[in-house]
Amino acid sequence: MASRGKFSSKLGFILAAAGSAVGLGNIWKFPFEVADGGGAAFVLIYLVFAFILCFPVMVTEIAIGRKTQKNPVGAYEALGFKKWKFLGMLGILSGILILSFYNVVAGWAFGYFLEILRGNFEIGNNFSIYIAQIWKVGIYGTVFMGVTAFTVSKGISGGIERAAKFLMPSLLIMIIGLAFYAMSLPDAGAGIVYYLVPEFSEVTFEVVYNALGQAFFSLSLGMGALITYGSYVSKSDNIINSAAWITVMDVGIAFLAGLMIFPFVSYLTNGTMENFSGGPGLIFTTLPGVFSSLGETLGIVVGSTFFLLLSFAALTSTVSLLEVPVTYVVDELKVSRKKTVWIVAILIFLIGVPSLLSNGYSSFFTNFVTYFGATSPTNFMTLVEHVGNDTFLPLGGFLITVFAAYVWGKNNLIEELSEGNPKFRDGRMKKYIDFTISYLCPVMLGIIFILTFLNRFFGINVF
Ligand code: TRP
Repeated sequence: MASRGKFSSKLGFILAAAGSAVGLGNIWKFPFEVADGGGAAFVLIYLVFAFILCFPVMVTEIAIGRKTQKNPVGAYEALGFKKWKFLGMLGILSGILILSFYNVVAGWAFGYFLEILRGNFEIGNNFSIYIAQIWKVGIYGTVFMGVTAFTVSKGISGGIERAAKFLMPSLLIMIIGLAFYAMSLPDAGAGIVYYLVPEFSEVTFEVVYNALGQAFFSLSLGMGALITYGSYVSKSDNIINSAAWITVMDVGIAFLAGLMIFPFVSYLTNGTMENFSGGPGLIFTTLPGVFSSLGETLGIVVGSTFFLLLSFAALTSTVSLLEVPVTYVVDELKVSRKKTVWIVAILIFLIGVPSLLSNGYSSFFTNFVTYFGATSPTNFMTLVEHVGNDTFLPLGGFLITVFAAYVWGKNNLIEELSEGNPKFRDGRMKKYIDFTISYLCPVMLGIIFILTFLNRFFGINVF
């Protein structure tokens, strides 16, 4: 059998996995959850969750991958638990669903990069028209999926790792540069105050729940993306240490995104921070307004840098999403990577076509379903997000922790984590992973799964 490939170094793996984690979620979701959730108080809660809840799941996924050197489906079988193959399947299905709509949004960002480069700032006021122009966004989406597939087709060290080694440092330089620039603009201070001054009264149960969900999503957990990347990691690497780096980089870049975005918005609103909200509207409507107000040349430089940064962040995530089904097909059917990549990418692109059409072009897909008790319909793209992301990821995470703690067994997990890290066996970190993976993680992930399911599909709000 041909070799599966491997990350060439620990740094290569860390950058690729951090690339998977750092994505659209870091740049448009995190800053707003912070602002709405009590500023620095939210950041604190988020950090606690990232380290107590997500970190143990991350090391577990990487350990399962490295132990078996298999894709998520093959991994459960290789450990001797054929019945758990369904969990790998669930992960692969989640990956396919997430990539199908994530690529659409990535295509929008890439399209904005090209439009702003041409000096078209008006695009910001025409966002809803733009996303309904099916040929335009269709071509941008095709290009984005093409670049993703090209990267994955070059293999682990020659494609994914190489791309991450270029994209991640570039992303870091761009985000630091833009944050410094934004903070030098008039009224920047009011934006920072809005972003970070703690408001403990704003910390409700709902905010805590959002912090949990966001941390989990942002770290790319729950679908076996890190089982897949873990399967290419060397036995001599220290998994605990790598996972700590990945978490720090993800949280750090999300935090920097806020230092860039809030001063921009504050500058545009003269420090009032009025009339703006998070999500796509902010990125695709408000920020182009900021860029255009900087004047033609500066606006083009700053604006295109921003959308290039967004495209880079998305690309390292789409690459890892595509790698999951690709590794599965290559491992199980023993076919060539190159062929597999292009076939899988085309299939996922086709699955994404209804999402592409569901932003105003086709009224059928735009008004696709109306949930129980809801008054307005949900479009196809949001439905896929509710299923693939919001429901399957916490469910997958819950089941992975149950599997690791009670089926495969904690001792086996601890053995694998001690490879490349012999001190782990008798250290405090071992006790910590043991406790969280057995009790804390399954309970909390189980709760998130149930609450999210009730909320998304039945509009039931427990808080
Ligand atoms: N973490 C990515 C982001 O913040 C999105 C994401 C969720 C993801 N799950 C994933 C990316 C699995 C790759 C693999 O945007």
